[in-house]
Amino acid sequence: MQITSQTKTIALIGHPIAHSRSPEMHNAALQYYNLPYVYLAYDISIEQFSDAINGMKALGFIGWNVTIPHKVRIMEHLDECAVDASEIGAVNTVVRQDQKWIGYNTDGMGYLRSLKEEGKIDVKGKRVVILGAGGAARAVGYALATSAVEQIVVANRTLSKAEQLAKHLEKWTKTDVRPIYDCKQAIQEAALVVNTTSVGMHPHVNDCPIDPTWLHEDLLVSDLIYEPRQTALLQAASSIGAKTHNGLGMLIHQAAYAFELWLGKQAPIERMRSALTERG
Ligand code: ATR
Repeated sequence: MQITSQTKTIALIGHPIAHSRSPEMHNAALQYYNLPYVYLAYDISIEQFSDAINGMKALGFIGWNVTIPHKVRIMEHLDECAVDASEIGAVNTVVRQDQKWIGYNTDGMGYLRSLKEEGKIDVKGKRVVILGAGGAARAVGYALATSAVEQIVVANRTLSKAEQLAKHLEKWTKTDVRPIYDCKQAIQEAALVVNTTSVGMHPHVNDCPIDPTWLHEDLLVSDLIYEPRQTALLQAASSIGAKTHNGLGMLIHQAAYAFELWLGKQAPIERMRSALTERG
C-alpha cells in the first residue's frame, strides 16, 4: 500500500503486544478494500496509558483495539460503552462515533460467529460447560447466555470466581447458570464444552484442563487457544469422534467485527484468515 498525507491510523495498545496477530489481520483487510488506513501495534505501559489515549484522540484516530492490561482501565476514558462491553466489564474495541468515543467488546460476538461458522452447532436449548471463570469466560458466557442456551455450568479451580461469574450472568439473563468445581457429570449432560483457561497453551502443549476420559462423542469441544491449533483437549476429543473447534476463528471474528464497527464494511474473513495461516 502507498502511504500518503491522507493515510490514517488504527492501532492496538497493550502490554506486551509483540505476540499479537492483529496487525496482520487488519492490514490484510484494509488492503483488500484499498482503504487509506494503516493498523499499528503500540506497547503502552500503565504509566503511559492516559497520555497514549489523549494522543490517539488528538491525532484523529477513528478507533483502536485494547488488550491486556488496559481492557478495564480504558472505560474511564470513553463517553459510552455498548451493552456488550458493559456486561462483559471490559472493552477491546474503541470506535469514534458522532464525536464520541464508544467502547465495545467484540470477543463474545466473535466467539458466537466463529462457533456458528466452524462449529456448526445451534446452541439454543443446549447445555454448555465453560472451563475457567476469567475475562475470556466472561465474554464467552455473555455470548452464550444471550443465545438462549438451556444451562451454563461454569467450572473453575477457584470456585469463588465461578460463583461470581455465575451470579453476574444470571443477573441479566434467564439462563440457568451453575458454578461448579468438578464438571465430570455436567460434561456427560452437555452438548458443548468450551475451554477458556490457558491450560494447553504453548509451550505447555501436553496439559489438558480436564480428565479427557470425561469427554463423549456427542460433544462439540471448543478451545479458545489457537497456539497450538490442536490442543491436548482437542486431540482427546477428536480421538473419540467428538467434533472440535479451535480458537483461531474467534481471533478472526473478533477482529472482523471491530473492522466492521470502524469502517462500516463487511470484513473479508478469508483474507484475514490467510494473513494468519500464511505465516503459521
Ligand atoms: P483471561 O482473561 O485470559 O480469561 P484470566 O482472567 O487470568 O485470563 O483467567 C484465567 C482462567 O483460567 C481462570 O479461570 C483461571 O483459574 P483461577 O480463577 O483459579 O485462577 C484459569 N486457569 C489458569 N491456569 C489454570 C490451571 N493451570 N488450571 C486450571 N485453571 C487455570
